[in-house]
Amino acid sequence: MPQRTTAPSNASAAPPRAEWTGQFGFILSAIGSAVGLGNIWRFPGVAYENGGGAFLIPYIVALLTAGIPILFLDYAIGHRFRGSAPLALRRIAGRFGEGIGWFQVMICVFIAIYYTAVLAWAASYFIFSFDLRWGDDATGFFTGDYLRLADSSFTLDFVPAVLIPLVIMWLLTIAVLGAGVVKGIQAANLIAMPLLVVGFLILVVRALFLPGAVDGLNALFTPDFAALADPTVWIAAYGHIFFSLSVAFGIMLTYSSYRRRRSNMTTPGLVVAFANSSFEILAAVGVFATLGFFAFQQGIAVDQLEGLTGVGLAFMTFPAIVAEMPGGQFFGALFFGSLVLAGLTSLISILEVILAGVIDKFGIPRRTAVYSIGGGLAIVSILLFGTSTGLIALDTIDNWANNIGIVSSAIVMTVTVLWVRRAGGELSRHLSALSTFRVGRGWLFFVSLVVPVVLGFMLVATIRQLFQEPYGGYDELYLLIAGWGSIAIMVIGAIALTASPWRSDPERFTPWPSLPVSRAAGAEGGAR
Ligand code: ALA
Repeated sequence: MPQRTTAPSNASAAPPRAEWTGQFGFILSAIGSAVGLGNIWRFPGVAYENGGGAFLIPYIVALLTAGIPILFLDYAIGHRFRGSAPLALRRIAGRFGEGIGWFQVMICVFIAIYYTAVLAWAASYFIFSFDLRWGDDATGFFTGDYLRLADSSFTLDFVPAVLIPLVIMWLLTIAVLGAGVVKGIQAANLIAMPLLVVGFLILVVRALFLPGAVDGLNALFTPDFAALADPTVWIAAYGHIFFSLSVAFGIMLTYSSYRRRRSNMTTPGLVVAFANSSFEILAAVGVFATLGFFAFQQGIAVDQLEGLTGVGLAFMTFPAIVAEMPGGQFFGALFFGSLVLAGLTSLISILEVILAGVIDKFGIPRRTAVYSIGGGLAIVSILLFGTSTGLIALDTIDNWANNIGIVSSAIVMTVTVLWVRRAGGELSRHLSALSTFRVGRGWLFFVSLVVPVVLGFMLVATIRQLFQEPYGGYDELYLLIAGWGSIAIMVIGAIALTASPWRSDPERFTPWPSLPVSRAAGAEGGAR
């Protein structure tokens, strides 16, 4: 580990770190980050495609053996080393660690750029719901009238209907982030999360009373146990959990760095993980009950329906269903309104990873960072997704950022921190010293052995498949540039940012509590 000074913990020249006002603000903001497009837009389709009810087995295994262990690792690193991903990882694993942190920041850069586009679409569709603007051809409306999809891979042909909500989403997010961690992020979550929960519960209850809802639920939950023998089902479960829980790409690490020193870490972590998975399963129930209604209307089985995943599900199939439903306007507004609220609170957290990294390293004022970086990313996002090329770029970058970027980040982070720097003992003692739910050898076993080994296999299988068949049937040269090119930019960006000088010495820092401390922390009043 790098040499740490014996200076008091506040000796760093950097300004004091922002802090959530309490445990509730932190938990709510962490749930706000975890519950996002991944839960509503991705999970139902992934579950359906990978064995239905049987998918819950690999899903729960992935959650317990990788999702929660990495969530705790993110919390431990961010909280003990009190910094953004580059700063905290620098303090734990030197320059190479910092490079991993910047790689996580770069993943967030790419995700933020396309995530905002989906949010903008959802915002448009929220408005469109009130007059069912897509008429009786939801698919044609989405790709034609709305997105005006071009045949070419990149054009500068702006589409105002997408451009305007995209600009609004960026302005809204920049305004929240500019207001700071407590007055901006925490306050936005305090408003958005209760609204989301109430709105989504109304939607699910309504969906459950639709004719045919039971058929949809049967389609989702009837287990296909044969699927469990298929490695791709397990890969799908492990691949989904990191994005869904917002772990291994800097978010939970950054959020935990804003917790007070003496804070319970693991128990809130379990609350966040449980809330995220509950919302995910609730979303699947709501979506499939609705699909059951759609199949019932057409007199077909649910498995004969098309467009049950991702963009197709949210922006083509769902609008088509809403158009046929009594009270469809209200139902559509609830669905797209929920997408906006869930996505907005996640987007804020994704951007905070970038801002925190830049503020820590270059010492620039928060507002300057928010306006310059937010503005810069908004321009890139608008150029890519405010034009008629959006959909292919989005699908490609999403696949590479998740299945290559986040998975690689989790592997390199666990190997570096736990195998090379051997910081597992310190991190586990840190968590246990402060938290009511203590971790020990079991956590270390999962986070240092199961995670890198399983993800290592997964990464090799994914890369092999990407080279065997062009992803999505897209042009191979395009995939090379947009997919692998994105990863190359993430790596180059990480190297360049690591090479630039720090405004204040990152290693002038003393972790707290000094360990071993379990008894001491308990005696001082222990966890909050
Ligand atoms: N965790 C966020 C989501 O699920 C990023 O969308």
